[in-house]
Amino acid sequence: MPIPLIAQGLQDGIGSIPYAWTVIKTAPWLLLIAALKYYFGGARNTSERLMHSKVVMVTGGTSGIGASVVQELAKRGAQVILLTKQPPSDLFLVEYIEDLRRTTGSQLIYAEQVDLSSLHSIRTFATKWIDNNPPRRLDAVVLCGGVAVPSSARKNTIDGIDEEWQVNYLANFHLLSILSPALRVQPAHRDVRVVFATCSSYIGAKFDLDIVKRGNESINKSTTKSSTPPPSKKGIYALSKLSLMTFAHSFQRHLNAYARPDGLPPCTRVLVVDPGLSRTPGTRRWLTCGSLLGLLVYLLTWPLWCLILKSPQQGAQSILYALMEENYSRGEGGWMIKECREVDCARRDVRDEDLGKRLWEFSEKQIEEAEKESAVRRAVEKKEKEVQEEKKGRTETASGKEKSAGSRRSRKGNKS
Ligand SMILES: NC(=O)c1ccc[n+]([C@@H]2O[C@H](COP(=O)([O-])OP(=O)(O)OC[C@H]3O[C@@H](n4cnc5c(N)ncnc54)[C@H](OP(=O)(O)O)[C@@H]3O)[C@@H](O)[C@H]2O)c1
Repeated sequence: MPIPLIAQGLQDGIGSIPYAWTVIKTAPWLLLIAALKYYFGGARNTSERLMHSKVVMVTGGTSGIGASVVQELAKRGAQVILLTKQPPSDLFLVEYIEDLRRTTGSQLIYAEQVDLSSLHSIRTFATKWIDNNPPRRLDAVVLCGGVAVPSSARKNTIDGIDEEWQVNYLANFHLLSILSPALRVQPAHRDVRVVFATCSSYIGAKFDLDIVKRGNESINKSTTKSSTPPPSKKGIYALSKLSLMTFAHSFQRHLNAYARPDGLPPCTRVLVVDPGLSRTPGTRRWLTCGSLLGLLVYLLTWPLWCLILKSPQQGAQSILYALMEENYSRGEGGWMIKECREVDCARRDVRDEDLGKRLWEFSEKQIEEAEKESAVRRAVEKKEKEVQEEKKGRTETASGKEKSAGSRRSRKGNKS
């Protein structure tokens, strides 16, 4: 077919071929679009490592990049433990897991409830995990859970901490601090990895922990009368990512400092991954500022986003590379991965030991205070519930007595 057409073009001129000029004019544009799409799609993970028998814990595995990571891990035979906000009995979650099992052909996908916006939920899960004897196998922890909240939707968690700060940073600190013994007891021959998902916004972050101190809400209220301006809540997302990376390096130092009883070197390595901008529900929420008008603009400009943003599968590639590449099974750890290759971190301060120590102490103190308050709150709530149930029980017995008394009277009345 093309040969006769080319021959006709050469003999009678291009104009003799129907639509030839249209094709010639459009082709360069289509090629340009294809080239741009290829460029923005980023690098692909080329590691073919099988993940059979590996146990991988994943946060944020129900949506976006995390969901694609889970899909690929399950296809490669890994046992995946999804740490989800919802309880494992949640109908949507049950359906999601069944779907994953069907599409990946792997039955080894489970869920455990870990709400990253509740320190108590994290502690409950992590202490249960480390209490297991003999220690459970754990090959990797992938930290993809996160939120990017538009400024109009800022809120505090149940622990009274800014949601972005807690979910993106503090929850990971809390989870890994408790799970640390479970990572350290893995046999020395095991290649254990902890993968942190970061974002390039960390580059411009200001290391100011005052904006995430607990009680800032009350400061805001009290300062409406005084002249002191309330601390600005801007930049918490970027700060949470910078802090996450600083913690990642501190955590690697903490693991490396552990003297194993068998005298062998530590087997856990930390990797920080920037997946690149991707078309995920999180990005959509952020781009649309959580508004209907924003959503409309987003839908109208969809072809642009489709061109310049990665798909969630493309976004997952660097995380998969960090989990599978053989080179990272040796060495000191603390590498940064972007576009499926090792890169230098744009901020030197993330490796600063003093800064790491200061952040660690700040985080421990913040968690301690929040956990104390939440324990008191839970105790009060439990007491109130007990009192209410007692009251309900008393009224039920009273009404039961009344009924039976009434029936006796009516029986007496009936007799007379
Ligand atoms: N997308 C990007 O362009 C981009 C760029 C650079 C870095 N990153 C990083 O990559 C990671 C994944 O991003 P994404 O865009 O794929 O995110 P996403 O689509 O918004 O998904 C976030 C995940 O975190 C989970 N999550 C949120 N709050 C939680 C909570 N309180 N407890 C437990 N789980 C919770 C969500 O669970 P539910 O589904 O139940 O809500 C969901 O599975 C994030 O750390 C993000 O910062 C993303």
